[in-house]
Amino acid sequence: MQWDWLYTFNSFTSMMCYAFSKCVAHLSIPEKISMPLIELSNVTKTYSEAGASKDVLHRVDLMIDQHELIVLLGRSGSGKSTLLNVISGIDVPTSGDVTIAGKTLTRLSERERTQFRRRHIGFIFQFFNLIPTLTVGENVFLPLELVGIDPYDANRRVEKMLATVGLDDRMHTFPDRLSGGEQQRVAIARALIHEPDIILADEPTGNLDYETGVMIIEILDRLVRKQGKTMMMATHSREVAGMADRILTIKDGGIEEMDGGKS
Ligand SMILES: Nc1ncnc2c1ncn2[C@@H]1O[C@H](COP(=O)(O)OP(=O)(O)OP(=O)(O)O)[C@@H](O)[C@H]1O
Ligand SMILES: [Mg+2]
Repeated sequence: MQWDWLYTFNSFTSMMCYAFSKCVAHLSIPEKISMPLIELSNVTKTYSEAGASKDVLHRVDLMIDQHELIVLLGRSGSGKSTLLNVISGIDVPTSGDVTIAGKTLTRLSERERTQFRRRHIGFIFQFFNLIPTLTVGENVFLPLELVGIDPYDANRRVEKMLATVGLDDRMHTFPDRLSGGEQQRVAIARALIHEPDIILADEPTGNLDYETGVMIIEILDRLVRKQGKTMMMATHSREVAGMADRILTIKDGGIEEMDGGKS
């Protein structure tokens, strides 16, 4: 009898958790919203090492509107990746809140944040982070599988996306057979395939030669900028900064707005 009750209770709670996580994941972000799309409020991120602690982000307040392209500059170790990780929900701040389209990520569980990220955020990693045991096609297919898109539709989308980044003939190749620029194009395809509302790019040209970097920026310009997506991109490159609406610099845990953006 007690087991029956426990079983019913457990089934009910897991059903509620599942339904809740689906709600979180399926929050749809309208084409036009009146509030900032991304809002950081009093965000601090502290790392401790060998007994000493350091605020990499210190009481950061930041608002990013829908469709803005933000470039984030800052010296190595200033906290660019930390900021992007905190916005994406990959990491959580030590204190303060991150809110996206009215949904406060910092109040969600890790599982709920993951669900939210899978649906709404595309993350382009500096070191590509492709899965070496999956082919190019399978790497790009994965985000669609994770949100449950019908495999037939998903395959067609993958083919189309790979053609868009000029890699349709590399569908069945494994990542270790690709050049750095090709791997970064796969990483971009993977970040954009689920049509996220927000793209976070962590030095997408950082490991590429100048010409390949220019090609990557052209692809991002075509697939992200011209489609009115919201993007935040960390970079060391002043040339890349030229395409931004707003340029931010991160220094000593704080964020400053710089002149030079288009808006
Ligand atoms: N998990 C961690 N534990 C301890 N310290 C960390 C951790 N992650 C980052 N840091 C520290 O936080 C600081 C900011 O790191 P972060 O990677 O955000 O810098 P960055 O601006 O992205 O640098 P880069 O331009 O070299 O990529 C660095 O001093 C780094 O050592
Ligand atoms: Mg970094």
